[in-house]
Amino acid sequence: MKKPPRLLIEEWLPAGAIGVECMRERGSASALAPHTYLHVWWARRPLTVARAAVLGSLLPADFPRDVFERLLGFGLPGKDLVEIRRRMDEGVRLEGGFNCDRAFKRGFRDGDLEKMRASAETIWGSGISVIDPMAGGGAIPLESARLGFHTLANEYNPVACSILEATVDYPFRFGEELSQKARKWAKIWNEKIEKRLSRFYPAYRFAKVHAYVFARTVPCPDTQFQTPLVPDWHLLKPKTERNRVVAEPIVDRKKGTWTVRIAPVGRGAGQLREAPNPTYNDGKGISLFSGEVVNGIWNGRQIPSDYIQAKAQTGEMRDVLYAVAVKTTQRLKFEPPEPRDLQALTEAESELNRCRPNWEKKGLIPTENIPVGDKTGAPGGVGTDLPLKRGEKKWVDIFTPRQLLSVGVLLEELLDLRTKIIKAEGEALGEAVFHLLSLGLDKYVNHDCMQTRWENTHAVIKGKMDRHDYAFKVTFAEMATCGSGSGLEWAIDNVLEAYEKLSELPRSSNARAAEISMGTATSLPVLHDKSVTAVVVDPPYADNVQYSELADFFYVWLKRTQGHRRPEWFSTYLCEHDQEAVVNISRHRENGGSSRKNGKRDGSAADAKAKAHAFYQGLMTDVFRESRRILRDDGVLTVMFTHKKQEAWEALFTSLIQAGFTITATWPIKTESEHSLHQAKKNAAQSTVILVARKRPKDAGVGYFDNAMRKEIREKARSTAERLEGEGLNPVDQLVGSFGPAMEVYSRHSEVRTDTGIPVGVDKAIDEAADAVSQWRVQKLSDRGLEGVEPEGKFTLLCWDVLGAVEFRFNEAKLLGNAVGMDVDQLVAAGLVTKTGDKVKILSAGDRRRDKALEPDSMEVQTLFGPVVVAKKRASKKNALKVHPNDPVFRTALDACHALALRYIEAGGGAGGIGSAKSLVNQHRWGKDSKEARLMEALVRAAPEAVRHEAGKKSVAAQYPEFRAWHALLLPLFGIKPPDWKKKLEAVIGLPFKEASDEEEAEPDNEDEG
Ligand SMILES: C[S@@+](CC[C@H](N)C(=O)[O-])C[C@H]1O[C@@H](n2cnc3c(N)ncnc32)[C@H](O)[C@@H]1O
Repeated sequence: MKKPPRLLIEEWLPAGAIGVECMRERGSASALAPHTYLHVWWARRPLTVARAAVLGSLLPADFPRDVFERLLGFGLPGKDLVEIRRRMDEGVRLEGGFNCDRAFKRGFRDGDLEKMRASAETIWGSGISVIDPMAGGGAIPLESARLGFHTLANEYNPVACSILEATVDYPFRFGEELSQKARKWAKIWNEKIEKRLSRFYPAYRFAKVHAYVFARTVPCPDTQFQTPLVPDWHLLKPKTERNRVVAEPIVDRKKGTWTVRIAPVGRGAGQLREAPNPTYNDGKGISLFSGEVVNGIWNGRQIPSDYIQAKAQTGEMRDVLYAVAVKTTQRLKFEPPEPRDLQALTEAESELNRCRPNWEKKGLIPTENIPVGDKTGAPGGVGTDLPLKRGEKKWVDIFTPRQLLSVGVLLEELLDLRTKIIKAEGEALGEAVFHLLSLGLDKYVNHDCMQTRWENTHAVIKGKMDRHDYAFKVTFAEMATCGSGSGLEWAIDNVLEAYEKLSELPRSSNARAAEISMGTATSLPVLHDKSVTAVVVDPPYADNVQYSELADFFYVWLKRTQGHRRPEWFSTYLCEHDQEAVVNISRHRENGGSSRKNGKRDGSAADAKAKAHAFYQGLMTDVFRESRRILRDDGVLTVMFTHKKQEAWEALFTSLIQAGFTITATWPIKTESEHSLHQAKKNAAQSTVILVARKRPKDAGVGYFDNAMRKEIREKARSTAERLEGEGLNPVDQLVGSFGPAMEVYSRHSEVRTDTGIPVGVDKAIDEAADAVSQWRVQKLSDRGLEGVEPEGKFTLLCWDVLGAVEFRFNEAKLLGNAVGMDVDQLVAAGLVTKTGDKVKILSAGDRRRDKALEPDSMEVQTLFGPVVVAKKRASKKNALKVHPNDPVFRTALDACHALALRYIEAGGGAGGIGSAKSLVNQHRWGKDSKEARLMEALVRAAPEAVRHEAGKKSVAAQYPEFRAWHALLLPLFGIKPPDWKKKLEAVIGLPFKEASDEEEAEPDNEDEG
């Protein structure tokens, strides 16, 4: 096979600037990208990264950068976008922010599109086709279709397929006419709903109901009176601490009843000093009816969580409306429910009882059973976190009677309208109108069930799918569908607005709708062998999202609204999941999904986990094999994923290699703001990784993991990291980005073995790359090298330099640990970090301080980490690994640096602190070239912004004062000039960046940045 020409994405990509645009796309809560709020789907990708993946995969490497950046929608050269973001992250306020529209909204220049087409066709000829075989909510096919390529969107889940129709098909076929018609029919639907439902939502004078707030209740174990489970009585809790409002329970213990008084929080008359004590905490309740008053404060009896679970399972858990949020023309007010509000609930229940038998007979409401699963639980399981454990067996069980009545009426009336819509609008447009209204129904359901949440900082109802699970909500909020509120109107308007914005997105003149197919990506029979130019895919990521378990929530409604039109999608009981590429452990348990057998933990849990992972990896290998079959021999496979756990990347890499691909590039794209990193508390920001692969020749043969291969991996990894640094990517992304070239070397072969024939896994190549990049970073921080510095010191240095945070994921600690030759357990044992679950935290000098100094006659013992000085009698080994500023000897250079910092700090800093530290230096004769001085200098260079300046007691700088101590000590102790740490002034400044003029550009909307 002739070697295919190198593609743009295999040679270069403005990764930093793409990340900036992704953050801008996601960062504006008031102006979300329209595909994200048309309907819930999970793990959606930003449009900018999707477009970059498609375009970069089709264009040649010598395509002009400025044209490529304009085609991506950049309003400024990529390097300027990166610079503006960097300055914003430093706290500099820039006049006008980016001063250009966000990339996904900007129009194309005709000349650019022509250039794009001509260049792509020089490589591929005229029949360019792009497929996303796991298309989800459709970011990738939408961008491919907007650019005018022949696009196919395949997806396994019917709910996603339904969303795809409204995202990648209708906007191209029907444009805005569809939403105009849909608005007309929505009005008619709403009028019918008003007639049937408004009496169940009593009107308020001069105000509209914004939300009804409910609490779940259980019978008090002693008195049997229903007592509420409320974790926070705040109804309004803005972050500013002003204007807080709470509900205070007023209890009649004799009668066994409670109502609420609503009051502002404050010091004035009629205000409450603070919110009442919660009656639910950590799974346990506190009774309002049984307990005693201690020092004037109610000390209620604790209600155990298993009791709450038992009451939920026997149907004795109730719900009580305790506050109504109403919007007047001036403000949002809270009131206790009026008797007519409570009466309306009773009447709604009677009405439901009247309608229900007929609805059940007609199959109108979802009486399907909730299936066993990782997110839904299993009957008999312990706890209330999953619906099946708390006794919610059917989908109808997650609605209160009034909610179910409303959704039932909504559905009944919508179905009734269908024939009229089709008659008036014709089959194709009419069905599309009906479909958009059905999506409106889904949006309504998402905001009107017992799993919604009253979000009291912004005073809004958060939809059920705000979380990717079915977690128990002890309080929840309900909309007024009509009558006193306009819940249905809001839901439909939201969907139609998203649709309108989708149809307004600029696109190429030859753009056409993507084709949609439903089925597993492991078998795409409609596509011929070697027929596709590019497969661009964003696969499920292990156990990150349980798509079908979550989608069932919508499936049961779409089945009723769309089943007639798409019987092949909606004829199953619930979403199919046999071929779903996820790690779902409950599907691999022999015990019917339950993690308990006869009340005891199921011993085969580990087995099930291993099977679930093997299943996922096997399925992904089959997906890639099928991609290989349909791809032209010179075609490209571009895969996107989020790097969270190393095992999952390894699984994907392994699947790709097993399926016959060789990896040719990797690009980390930061899709989350670095703000949190500058707080330096956590490094939890995630990146999207784009991985590029080509078909590996069949005769690739065996490769040997010998010195030559390792050297090549190391060289490629290092040069890639250097290049990524130039692209404006931070050190952790430089590290991840270096894995691609390492993989390229590894995956050139069908398999890799040691000289003695033992198979070598992908992880070894990753470790080699991480090691090379870490060494390079260490060298950058220390011109004079770190010869003699122990792994502990290098590890701490790398954590601060690469991760820039106090806390990070285990995976990252593991990578850096490997690079210095220590695993995380050793680091924990060495007293450098703590590990809780997936989190690893670096200990400060203060955390590591021992109470007493070691005694001079202490003895030295040999440990895993080298010799440790242990006092003969008193110090345990654990204690010996700590540090005291007066210790006679220090195990490592890091210990010495910590001791010097402690001396400085404990002497109150300044001249006294320097004097105290100096005496220790003199005592040990540590000179400028000592390992202690070289490490201290490197640590100061690695210090992130957040540790450099005192910023309040809870700040990271206050927790890690050693950095400021080292900075102050470098010159007086060792004659080394420290870097300039002067705080950058916060200022509003204008930057000399100029937007490229573009006549076809869409109207800019309000920028949230800046
Ligand atoms: C990460 S999501 C894609 C998200 C999409 N890129 C977006 O921006 O909305 C992965 C998708 O793969 C789908 N999927 C899972 N198993 C599949 C299979 N065997 N074949 C096709 N699609 C599958 C899931 O339903 C999910 O929608």
